[in-house]
Amino acid sequence: MSLPSAQGRLRLGVNIDHVATIRNARGGDHPDPVRAAEIVAACGGDGITAHLREDRRHIRDADLARIQAATDLPLNLEMAATDEMLEIALRHSPHAACIVPERREERTTEGGLDAAGQHNRLAPIVARLADAGIRVSLFIAPEERQIEAALRLKAPVVELHTGEYAHATGDRVSVELERIADIAALAAKNGIEPHAGHGLTYDNVQPIAAIPQLAELNIGHYLVGEAVFVGLEAAVRKMRELMDDAR
Ligand code: PXP
Repeated sequence: MSLPSAQGRLRLGVNIDHVATIRNARGGDHPDPVRAAEIVAACGGDGITAHLREDRRHIRDADLARIQAATDLPLNLEMAATDEMLEIALRHSPHAACIVPERREERTTEGGLDAAGQHNRLAPIVARLADAGIRVSLFIAPEERQIEAALRLKAPVVELHTGEYAHATGDRVSVELERIADIAALAAKNGIEPHAGHGLTYDNVQPIAAIPQLAELNIGHYLVGEAVFVGLEAAVRKMRELMDDAR
């Protein structure tokens, strides 16, 4: 089965983790990621993305239910492939779960999930989430073998890690962009909905947004950083405009 091109509206999922990072720096309850979710809902965001890390360095367990209660936007829960996170996902039943690799010492999700190498660990988790009606996505490097692995795992969605593209300079930029475009096309050809995210900014989002098969971008750190200067609503609106202009 081949998916139609997602040309047209590209969804924007706003990752609000780093609102919680700022909150946690002082141990209180301000700024509240729930308020961020409400603003995203009011200004044209299509979804809320939140990563409950094992060390709870930003989003915490209690935030999930509060975010779900505060907005009707779909929640995309990023999670490591662990029994603890599976149990939490099943309890909260978010719209989507994006399985990400996680290492405690990393500053952010540095690489893609090795879906190819971890089939046996991932298969029962993907199946339990899917059985519960949660749309599963795998956060993978843009590589053919990872798409093959996603197919074996019957994952309906992959999110392509755009970190290498975002950090590339010179000639590498177009090489990385082409890699993402090719793998997005391969995913769609095989019936898997491709998304993308990581390290996207006003400056680098448009070539990614122009890839016709992509259905959703998840963007966090840059938007929260910009929000410090212009407010979250203005930052989300500008990103939305750039994405729309690129299509
Ligand atoms: N998508 C996934 C799966 C992520 O783990 C993250 C955060 O690392 C993002 C998107 C957003 O990345 P950024 O905060 O760099 O925009």
